Amino acid sequence: MLAGKNIILGITGGIAAYKAASLVRLLVKAGAEVQVIMTPNAKEFIAPLTLSTLSGKPVISEFFTANTGQWNSHVDLGLWADAMIVAPATASTIAKMANGVADNMLVTTYLSAKAPVFVAPAMDLDMFKHPTTKRNLDLLRSYGNHIIEPAAGELASHLIGKGRMEEPENIVKVLDAYFDQSLDMKGRRVLITAGPTYEKIDPVRFIGNFSSGKQGFALALECAERGAQVTLVAGPVSLAIEHPGVNRIDVTSADEMHRAVLDNIESQDVAIMCAAVADYKVENELDHKIKREKGDAPTLVLVKNPDIAKAVGAVKKPGQVLVGFALETDNEDVYAHEKLAKKNLDFIVLNSLKDKGAGFQVDTNKVKIIESDGSETIFPCKDKRMVAKDIVDLLNAKYLKS
Ligand code: PMT
Repeated sequence: MLAGKNIILGITGGIAAYKAASLVRLLVKAGAEVQVIMTPNAKEFIAPLTLSTLSGKPVISEFFTANTGQWNSHVDLGLWADAMIVAPATASTIAKMANGVADNMLVTTYLSAKAPVFVAPAMDLDMFKHPTTKRNLDLLRSYGNHIIEPAAGELASHLIGKGRMEEPENIVKVLDAYFDQSLDMKGRRVLITAGPTYEKIDPVRFIGNFSSGKQGFALALECAERGAQVTLVAGPVSLAIEHPGVNRIDVTSADEMHRAVLDNIESQDVAIMCAAVADYKVENELDHKIKREKGDAPTLVLVKNPDIAKAVGAVKKPGQVLVGFALETDNEDVYAHEKLAKKNLDFIVLNSLKDKGAGFQVDTNKVKIIESDGSETIFPCKDKRMVAKDIVDLLNAKYLKS
């Protein structure tokens, strides 16, 4: 997919800059023309000669070449590119890009680029977690830039955490997917909730449910493999997901899930609410362990949790698609129809614990999709990944046409 594409690779000053050499080699091998732009600090980490040799083009770093007076036009470069990648992207460059601080060739080119921009952050875990970095990345997302999430692992500081630049092979896969016209979710932004929520009773106990997260994670992978940028808000589950198109946000309680969803909903094309959110939390949560030996059994006072799907339904913009799930044990159709209307959903995926092979924990599910226009489709019991495929097929066929 990359053959004949013009790619600008922006390299910034972090230790992961050494990986840029492999990235150039892989892009060139895939048939792309690569123009490297380095920030002045990037040259401390990797020699321009290495990159110009691999790309077959002189590396650009300054606005003009001192000895010849040749002017490097960021505008021409911005127009030439079919895509721009910034990898590694340091916290500093991310901040400059988010706020338009055009004090080097890389950021001026970014501001002039008409092509899609992909940003692969790389930094220490605390820098990555810092609210400023998060806000700047959110700003870049809101401008339509694609963030290639860093991986977790050992960092240059020897600390373990999220902040390692995604491997060059995976960055190339993201670009490939972007240019692959057969990917019907390409460029779509999808938010998915998955798993249970836990509501604390005391520091060692909680109210929860049996959701494993399998159905929600299957949806996330299906969307990402079809080219979507997925924000996966996951309750406490033991599942892993490895895909550069998935930005995973881990939460524990319904309140945390509610906040994470509302913080991210604005820029989404689709939201799929697959999580089994606890409907109640404990009002009188204790800050110490309840002791069996002391006194009578405690009385738990429960209060309602926010209805996250309903909150999204209330702020749904024209063009946004909202999909809910209904897990029932009786009166399935009646309750599903009620939820469809009450939460302002476009369609609801009903699964019943009465059906063998459906619902919590198992690898399969049996669903009926009920749409707000009255259409209903019953599916046989199948693997949760195939259920995810049916849901995404419907989204594409009917709800995401333009
Ligand atoms: O995770 P698995 O083990 O793979 O199991 C999959 C599943 C059974 C959890 C999944 O298929 C499913 O049915 N998820 C929804 C479970 C549920 O809580 O259903 P509900 O009928 O109580 O909720 C209706 C809808 O409102 C759901 O979209 C739910 O995410 C949402 N909701 C519910 C309560 C709440 N406070 N906030 C919500 O957003």
